[in-house]
Order: sequence, then structure tokens, then C-alpha cells
Amino acid sequence: MALVSAKEMLNKARDGHYAVGAININNLEWTKAILETAQAENSPIMLGVSEGAVKYMGGFHVVTDMVKAVVKDLGITVPVALHLDHGSFEGCKKAIAAGFTSVMFDGSHSPLEENLAQTREIVALAHANGVSVEAEVGTIGGEEDGVVGTGELADPQECKLLSETGIDFLAAGIGNIHGKYPENWAGLSFDRLEEVKEAANGLPLVLHGGSGIPEDQIKKAINLGVAKINVNTELQLAFAAATRKYIEEGKDLEGKGFDPRKLLNPGFKAMQETVKEKIAMFGSANKA
Ligand code: 13P
Repeated sequence: MALVSAKEMLNKARDGHYAVGAININNLEWTKAILETAQAENSPIMLGVSEGAVKYMGGFHVVTDMVKAVVKDLGITVPVALHLDHGSFEGCKKAIAAGFTSVMFDGSHSPLEENLAQTREIVALAHANGVSVEAEVGTIGGEEDGVVGTGELADPQECKLLSETGIDFLAAGIGNIHGKYPENWAGLSFDRLEEVKEAANGLPLVLHGGSGIPEDQIKKAINLGVAKINVNTELQLAFAAATRKYIEEGKDLEGKGFDPRKLLNPGFKAMQETVKEKIAMFGSANKA
């Protein structure tokens, strides 16, 4: 199946009260692990790619061609959207030109008027190419802010204005944080999520920082309109832990254990397990 825009899959998820995972990729192992698992679980899926990951893999065309080739050669039939995560203005344009089917324009660090104007421009270009658009209000903190017990809360009025730019889904800070959650994390603000939902003109909502949020909070967020959940760190941790175990057990020193197809396999399987857990938690199995 050809790559698809995320608009339809997220509207369906919002209406059906489940969420689609947007899982970040770094290379071929990540791509195969996520797509094979989504196929096995008969789940729609989004592959998130940060601009840093694009650079790491060699460029936008490398990513697009790799993902398309995996979909084709592995016979992936579930809906797959290739999504630029936290894209810059120029990055979104390059992603659209290279065949990404969804982009997040992250203007959350710019003054609101500029964010709105640039979002409108990206929406026009993206929609002319059949590409879906996510935009963000309220920056989402990172673990370097670990001393702070909560992430930022988006301003509902700003959410309303951004939702009127023609975007297809909206990311809003509700106390979520990228990376590992600090010990003193206050949890998601469901009061703010309800206000954001009210303001967002019915758009599907996006929850960033999906790694490590307890299941009850994930389920509650989905019930309140979250239809896309981003996960990155948890796969990285799963891969690193399994690879560390393999090496610490000296397996790379046994026979041809140094062969990357063997060395990377425990991490690959650990990522598949993590994706399977997320699909079950988000309720997207058998929704393809
Ligand atoms: P985590 O790394 O916390 O899962 O966040 C992922 C994310 O939100 C990507 O945009």
C-alpha cells in the first residue's frame, strides 16, 4: 500500500476513541521493527522522523525511499504515514518535496502571529500535495528540565487560533515532557486537555512525550480526544538495554556473534515488543 496522509487515520481514531502511535525512526532496524509489528497487529501507524534523524540517515530522499521500499518488499498493507516530527519551516518544505505524507510544523518557539502565518503557508503547500499537517502550541519540555515537575500548559485561546489555520491535528502541551519523566512529575493536566479540546474545533489532538506515561493517564487522554501519541525514548531505551545485555553476556565474542545481523537482533526484538505494547495500550490493533 502506498504511504498515506495521516488525516483520515487520525479522524477515524478520534471518532473510534483510540490513538495511532507515531513512533520515531532512526534507521532500517527501527523502520522494519515498527512496520512489521504494525502489520502483525493490523494497526495503522505513523513513522515520526525528526530533522536530526533525517540528517543522520543521509537526507529526506533516503528516508522516503527506504520507508517506501520496506513497505513494498515486506508487503505492508496497513496504512502508514511518513511524518516529519517537529519540522522547521524549510524542513517541512523539503519533506513535502521528498514525498513525506505528513508534516508537523513546529512554530511553537516563534511569536504567535509568526507561528500562525507560517502554519497557514505550510498548510497551503501540504494540502496541495495531499500531505497532512500538525502544528503546536505551548512548547513541550525535555528531560533537561528535569528539575521542573511539569511540562508547559498550552493556552486554549492560542489553540483555537492555530486550529483555525486549516491544520489537520493539533499538538498542545498538557504537562507532557519529551524523554524520561522526572520523579516529581505532576502528571498530565486533564483540566487543560478538556479546555484544549473545547477550543480545538474538533481536531484530533496529539500527545507528545508518550514514553513512560502511565497507562491510566494514556487511556484518559484518549477518551478526551487524543488520537496520536508520539513515542521515541522508550524504543531507544529498549534497544539499548537489549544490546547492552547481549554484549555484557559476551555474546558478541562467541562464534560470529559480532555480525551486525546477530548483534542488533536482541535490540530489534525488544523494539518490536515495545511497539506491540504501545499498539495494545493505544487501542489501535485491528483498526487498519
Ligand atoms: P518521547 O521521546 O518522550 O517518547 O517523545 C517523543 C515525541 O514526542 C516526539 O515528538
